[in-house]
Amino acid sequence: MLIFYPIKDGVLMDLVQKIEQLKKEKNAVLLVHNYQVPEVQDVADFLGDSLGLARKASETDADIIVFAGVDFMAETAKILNPDKKVFITAKEANCPMSAMLLKEELLKAKKEHPDAEVVLYVNSSAECKALCDSCCTSANAEKVVNAMDADTILFGPDKNLAYYVQKRSEKKIVAVPKDGHCYVHAIIEMPALELAIEKHPNAIVVVHPECPPDVQERADNIASTSGMVRLARELPNKEFIIGTETGLLYRLQKENPGKKFFPAYEHAVCRAMKQTASLNDVYLTLKEGRNGVSVPEEIRKKAEKAINRMLELS
Ligand code: 13P
Ligand code: SF4
Repeated sequence: MLIFYPIKDGVLMDLVQKIEQLKKEKNAVLLVHNYQVPEVQDVADFLGDSLGLARKASETDADIIVFAGVDFMAETAKILNPDKKVFITAKEANCPMSAMLLKEELLKAKKEHPDAEVVLYVNSSAECKALCDSCCTSANAEKVVNAMDADTILFGPDKNLAYYVQKRSEKKIVAVPKDGHCYVHAIIEMPALELAIEKHPNAIVVVHPECPPDVQERADNIASTSGMVRLARELPNKEFIIGTETGLLYRLQKENPGKKFFPAYEHAVCRAMKQTASLNDVYLTLKEGRNGVSVPEEIRKKAEKAINRMLELS
């Protein structure tokens, strides 16, 4: 394992060793999202985007899954692994966008559009997932929507991802709710991006599809976080302006030491993701088995179908 950040004393290293030992003893796997703090990224068994993490969760033969990310991601892992123990490293790590779609609103939209199918971003509650035809992530939204049978797709909760998909599909996309968004990506606005471009005129601009439409239009590329990791590796460019939560920049810089990465907006920091503040949170979750995740069986079974459909389609 490569430890990239400076360790001034032995404390962090001791924690790393204890975490590795606990993982072995308990046959636990640690799944970490790309926005987590550096020291947590560095102890991951798998570090990735929502799609990659869902895939790993569906494939693991570990007895215990520890998730360093946010609520809907750990819930997805539990939905796919009802017989395994799933723990989240911070119980307050609740994604505000996922909370923007209420079951009642989705049911109302379904009634208003009886011929439509429903595709929900994994950034949604298990309760809502149980009501949809397929889930999607930012990495496969276009593919999933275009593979559906219906001509009209109810799509939620992110209106910006809905915009991204609409530009790439003949189908009619109806955003549910009308104004669902990720506040972290919504504040990456044109003035901030233009300033970053002014400062780094030679950089290529890569943004997340949760960013506002005008920012998407201005970008050279639009990608999920792992899509950004791939682009950073594969493109010949030496400088990148990255329009997403700033936690990803650590991974990009670590994996591409000869290139430079600049945030489109340095204040794009997700409070929910940063509820897991340090290795202590990972260590205590593993040691004490705290913050267990559960999903009622009736909801789980239906939500599992929607997640599996996404995994099959993408
Ligand atoms: P991805 O890592 O799937 O691109 O998701 C971004 C995000 O906002 C997750 O909360
Ligand atoms: Fe939710 Fe946005 Fe934070 Fe992702 S970055 S967890 S979508 S608030």
